[in-house]
Amino acid sequence: MGTGYVGLTTGICLAYLGHEVTCVDLSQEKVDLLRAGRSPIYEPFLDELMHEAAHNLTFTTDYAEGVPGAEVVFVAVQTPSLPDGQPDLRFLRMAAESIGKTIDGEFTVVVNKSTVPIGSGNWVESILRESFEGFHSRRAAGEFAVASNPEFLREGSAIHDTLFPDRIVIGSDNPRSLDVLNRLYRAVLNQSFTAPTFLPRPEEVGAVPLVSTDLASAELIKYAANAFLALKISYINEIGKLANKVGADINQVARGTGLDARIGSRFLQPGVGWGGSCFGKDTAALIATAAEYSYDMPIVSAAREVNQRQREEAVNKLLDELRILKGRKIGLLGLAFKPNTDDLRDSPAIDIAKLMIARGARVKLHDPVAAERFRAEQPELAASLCESVDEVFDDSDAVVLVTEWPQYLELDWGKYVGLMRTPVVLDGRNVLDPQRLSRLGYTYLTIAGRPVGL
Ligand code: UDX
Repeated sequence: MGTGYVGLTTGICLAYLGHEVTCVDLSQEKVDLLRAGRSPIYEPFLDELMHEAAHNLTFTTDYAEGVPGAEVVFVAVQTPSLPDGQPDLRFLRMAAESIGKTIDGEFTVVVNKSTVPIGSGNWVESILRESFEGFHSRRAAGEFAVASNPEFLREGSAIHDTLFPDRIVIGSDNPRSLDVLNRLYRAVLNQSFTAPTFLPRPEEVGAVPLVSTDLASAELIKYAANAFLALKISYINEIGKLANKVGADINQVARGTGLDARIGSRFLQPGVGWGGSCFGKDTAALIATAAEYSYDMPIVSAAREVNQRQREEAVNKLLDELRILKGRKIGLLGLAFKPNTDDLRDSPAIDIAKLMIARGARVKLHDPVAAERFRAEQPELAASLCESVDEVFDDSDAVVLVTEWPQYLELDWGKYVGLMRTPVVLDGRNVLDPQRLSRLGYTYLTIAGRPVGL
């Protein structure tokens, strides 16, 4: 149920593994696209895998076509944040009601894939029960059970992360449903399937560990994992601030720190901070849940605060350099919240653009993939979208690298320096070569610390 990033990736991967999958989505437009073999989202390899698994895949808008006869029903509907940080569970409720009406009485495991507050599994179960009993006019006895199977896929590597995961987590208070899910994922757990030709199995992937636990624990694992990753990034950004002050090179500090196996080198890349659909939403939801138990989660709150400051810092850096932003032309390279996706949710680029516009700057934007979506989703933002990178540099007072798309890293920077009014580059992701850029005549700025000896 639901063909967003999580639902569609899960459906297509399970079909590829040999299961018979029906993807249900209420949007006729999405279903029409999918039936025509086209993915409504940009995600590497999704189209190819959908093509290979086509014989096991059906797309429909009708619950009655997907639910009856299914052994497992995955619910992967959107849970956007409400103003108080709690997720909006309206779509989850609607999905649970529709499933309750269409379940046919054979044992069905209803799996929550959407990231939902701890305890939502029980809530879904009660809605299913009410809906089933209301529709079938009889008591529901043993027909279904609710499980949680949190998703850890990253956008941009969604297929890879689903087929070759670090672990699989399943949680239910009903042993039979754990058994069903264990069987469903057997090929992934043993890595006994043939990997797609376009996505070979990484050498280091062996048997995948399974965490089989109760419902509440599985629900909390998802939040605990995402909040930890978010605070790891905020931590290195905080250290970056200090590195800046003392004249240390944050990239060396991050490397030297991350090589300690207890810390790990991933997610220590400093820059404008995290965005996307998960970290902001999940940290807010975790804090909101804790508040219900009168706990304030100080570490997670601090990670959010540091992340917001990083966005403001991008603007402050330019202000320090240019003194005045009013009337200046500033180009932003990258709109998506990270490379290899067209997802703009909670993207640092949007906040940074808004902050600059508020200070009177004239902002030019470019993204290799997300520009169209940006135009549709942010119509009120008074910035101009550029068709080419040349336009971003042309007559600009500064250019900010916000999303580290590979094509930006390979730009012929020498070609652009002469186009700019003042050749200032702010490296929002700490990925450019400061020495090289300054040799070419740029003033190189970074949010994190990096003694460039310029
Ligand atoms: C994340 C989790 O990784 C995934 O397990 C979960 O299920 C969903 O949320 P995703 O949001 O797709 O996935 O992106 P991810 O690759 O984790 O990046 C999140 C943000 O952190 C991006 O904005 C990225 O630019 C930023 N980031 C990441 C950093 O700033 N520094 C890093 O070192 C790593």
